[in-house]
Amino acid sequence: MRRPVIAGNWKMYKTRAETLAFFRDFLPLVESSRHCDIVVAPPFTAIGAAAEAARGTKIAIAGQDLYWQTEGAFTGEVSGKMLAESGCAYVIVGHSERRQYFGETDESVQRKTKAALEAKLTPIVCVGELLAEREGNQTEAVLKRQFDGALTALTPAEFSRILIAYEPVWAIGTGRTATPEIAAEAHRFIRGLAAAQFTHEQGSALRILYGGSVKPDNIKGLMAQAEIDGALVGGASLDAKSFAEIVNY
Ligand code: 13P
Repeated sequence: MRRPVIAGNWKMYKTRAETLAFFRDFLPLVESSRHCDIVVAPPFTAIGAAAEAARGTKIAIAGQDLYWQTEGAFTGEVSGKMLAESGCAYVIVGHSERRQYFGETDESVQRKTKAALEAKLTPIVCVGELLAEREGNQTEAVLKRQFDGALTALTPAEFSRILIAYEPVWAIGTGRTATPEIAAEAHRFIRGLAAAQFTHEQGSALRILYGGSVKPDNIKGLMAQAEIDGALVGGASLDAKSFAEIVNY
């Protein structure tokens, strides 16, 4: 049985003060939620405040990115060790916005995934196709390229520690969610890649989250799919009440 994970990716939203206000409202709403792991990924500057607010609760904090070196002359970058020290247990790697706007490649995703594991963080590795790729019947080829490029270099022990988020780019921030069936089909394909690369058991144990316009009113349908092990939520994770409704699907 794979334990569900509901993760919020705040992107470049919320100051420290807004983060504290969020947790004040959010904590009581999820106090008795025991059916899933809950993760919040604030921007770097609010990680400390979030970690402090979540201390003693079951909510885990994530970074939204990291650099693969542990330290050095890399202006503007943050290492896995720094995230872990700041209170992160997870880190998002290879988000499509990083691929689209900041030059992230399959190779850098691989390096960052390895670095996250070395820092004892759980990487949430993002994959997903563009609209033109889906319309050109390239979805599986793109997912395979992203999976191979980033993940085949991992050892089986390393692979057992990662999560994958399937986020079709055409569904991110567009209000256009993949149907539960479309998402499940992609998840099944990714799980098959994992089983072929590693073992059948590793494929079965892999937790795959869906991301892209997840809202309180569509989470139930998504989670009803056996293939969907959780959600990576953008916009709807910014509001304590709507994120709590998603957590408590
Ligand atoms: P939205 O939920 O705002 O579509 O964002 C999804 C996402 O990119 C999460 O990482």
